[in-house]
Amino acid sequence: MPISWTHRYAQRTQRMTSSAIRELLKVTEQPDMISFAGGLPAPEIFPVEEMAVAADRVLRDFGPQALQYSTTEGYRPLREWVAQHTAPSLTISPDNILITSGSQQALDLLGKIFINPGDRLVVEAPTYMGALQAFNPYEAEYVAVPSDEQGMITAALEPALQASPKLIYTMPTFQNPTGVTLTLERRQQLVELAQRYGVPIIEDDAYGELRFEGEPIPKILEIGGSGSSGGDYDGSVIYLSTFSKTLAPGLRLAWIVAPLEVIRKLVQAKQGADLHSATFNQMIAYEAVRDGFLQQHLPVIRRVYRERREVMLAALAEHFPPETHWTRPDGGLFLWVTLPPGISGVALLPAALAANVAFVPGASMFPNGGGENTLRLNFSNATPAQIREGIARLGRVLAEQLGR
Ligand SMILES: Cc1ncc(COP(=O)(O)O)c(C=O)c1O
Repeated sequence: MPISWTHRYAQRTQRMTSSAIRELLKVTEQPDMISFAGGLPAPEIFPVEEMAVAADRVLRDFGPQALQYSTTEGYRPLREWVAQHTAPSLTISPDNILITSGSQQALDLLGKIFINPGDRLVVEAPTYMGALQAFNPYEAEYVAVPSDEQGMITAALEPALQASPKLIYTMPTFQNPTGVTLTLERRQQLVELAQRYGVPIIEDDAYGELRFEGEPIPKILEIGGSGSSGGDYDGSVIYLSTFSKTLAPGLRLAWIVAPLEVIRKLVQAKQGADLHSATFNQMIAYEAVRDGFLQQHLPVIRRVYRERREVMLAALAEHFPPETHWTRPDGGLFLWVTLPPGISGVALLPAALAANVAFVPGASMFPNGGGENTLRLNFSNATPAQIREGIARLGRVLAEQLGR
């Protein structure tokens, strides 16, 4: 008898949808396509040589250990490195760190341990689509707080907190998708309100190291995370970061900083998911960063991304209609375009793809609808020449849509 799969799928799969970005990336592999769609780093500056040296050293010095199963919490020296480098003003012990298989897994594990069906999460609108994909199967509901050029509009946060959310999920620095950064004043307001309402904050900091302009602003972790007991971090902010944008996304290595009891629960959840993150990759990453390699490498990444952002901003000014607006990020990988009202990013996409240029329509990043006239552009992956050409193509497609 033929099996009917559909009616066997669990209830939670009804909230699982394919990422529009991943679907798009399939098309963007065609030759001559210029893609501003993915969130891919610039491959030209991946530290291939350094990784080869590190991999060689790991195999030579620790061969069997590197190829063996290891602890769920992660490779201890790497956790010590993370504990030392995350927030010098706080007491963070290696036991406060869980190494994860990308921060995408961190989001899934947080969903797994915290979200019951119907639980509310406060998120920015727009927010990271991958976070919605991670939280949706746990049947989260979203209370969306709008954002502007200064990040989440904290004046709109209090009504959201009155809806008794379980958590606040935020990307305060070079946010995905908008590229904007929450100001210090709003960070303080966010922390103050979250503490007043007793709601923990998840700070997703995938891009904080990629600042190429302006002065660094303290992490939410640093502002709101004070709290330690016996040398361990015990605050109400859970912090995520990743090696994906500083070393290489193919390593699939990231980390969570959280109070010990949360780490213990996450460890149980991770055991059910993948036992532990790849031992070999963790040891390679540690070998690569232990002697300060990132301090040499980050300036290279920042220089390249700054140039690409400059090129994209100049091309937008030259080729986009005057009624369009865009953000001017001080770091990260993305900028955000607002089209004239009535012009839909989703409707624009087929014409753009036909002209061999790709972007992600912004609407899918609004958990409760809206943002039809927005789009996200990635400026890290295409070369400056491709950026100039791709934005010119997009400008022509837009002009056609506007009937010019
Ligand atoms: C805000 C944010 N969080 C998490 C991730 C997942 O990153 P990874 O799993 O590569 O660490 C991304 C990837 O683009 C992101 O933009």
